[in-house]
Amino acid sequence: MLDFGSGEPLPAALTLEAVHAAVASERYHVLGAPSTKMLTRISGTGLAPWEIHRPQKFVRDLVLRGCFSGRVLDAGCGIGDNALFIAKACPQAHVTAVDVSPRCVAFATAKAGLRRMTSGLITLEKFVRDLVLRGCFSGRVLDAGCGIGDNALFIAKACPQAHVTAVDVSPRCVAFATAKAGLRRMTSGLITLETASLTEPEPERQAACVSSPASDGTFDVVLDSSTFHCFCDADRELYAASLRRLLRPGGKLFVNCMSEAETRPGGPRRVSVAELLSMFNRQSGWEVEVIEDSVIELHPTFWGGQTVSRLYTVRKL
Ligand SMILES: C[S@@+](CC[C@H](N)C(=O)[O-])C[C@H]1O[C@@H](n2cnc3c(N)ncnc32)[C@H](O)[C@@H]1O
Repeated sequence: MLDFGSGEPLPAALTLEAVHAAVASERYHVLGAPSTKMLTRISGTGLAPWEIHRPQKFVRDLVLRGCFSGRVLDAGCGIGDNALFIAKACPQAHVTAVDVSPRCVAFATAKAGLRRMTSGLITLEKFVRDLVLRGCFSGRVLDAGCGIGDNALFIAKACPQAHVTAVDVSPRCVAFATAKAGLRRMTSGLITLETASLTEPEPERQAACVSSPASDGTFDVVLDSSTFHCFCDADRELYAASLRRLLRPGGKLFVNCMSEAETRPGGPRRVSVAELLSMFNRQSGWEVEVIEDSVIELHPTFWGGQTVSRLYTVRKL
């Protein structure tokens, strides 16, 4: 049984499929509205179709429009992602979030505790959702520099045909991501989270999941969400060599990095097409297949919540 400290414990056998089937069944509606009994059995499991573990897009838009200030009530807050997002993004707001389900409130409270561990904001990148919809993630997927894990956890949940390995050099990021995986009950072997550096040249000082010879050539897909543009020239070389070693021939690398069209001061390095192609080209064993305009989503109070980037689809030859 899983228990978040208060509220009704969840039956351990409860599955995503069972919860989705219950919501899709005719029994879900009584007199034209969801049955309270059914709703309270499902809410706060972290598995219901509306429990997406991130703020809704319209909530992010309302934040950008400055709609939240003063005392804000989230009426029926569920597992709390909208309320937590507003509270973090709008320092001028005090958010009260209520729900009839003690389990929902316990879940939201546990997440609030986790988020006090960092000043970063939990976001799932739009380009990752697009890549999921295009069916880009299957087989062994490496999230290189996973941060606090939202992209990796989303892929692991949305793509049952993928096994995701998510690594970050920061142990705190990995601890955060691991705790979130626990809250989402994602401990079934679909995701591996490890502290590891992809620029460490000495394998013996490196986590086995990315350094042992047994891991060479075993990944089908690598996701780089805002990691490449963090590296200096020397680390870029080490990083590209690690990815080349880990990907199988024909495997795909998706790199979303900030472009030179972003002219505001500060932030990570801008990466021009020429610069990217100087690292990833036929001579170095890669072919850049597609270059698309993209965005990087940011904290809504930083640069208006997003910046200009390019998404590169790169194949290992
Ligand atoms: C800008 S953050 C992006 C995080 C995440 N991918 C996202 O989209 O939210 C870059 C991440 O790369 C990680 N990182 C930096 N150097 C690394 C290295 N050598 N090996 C693995 N991860 C690294 C950082 O700790 C940080 O979490």
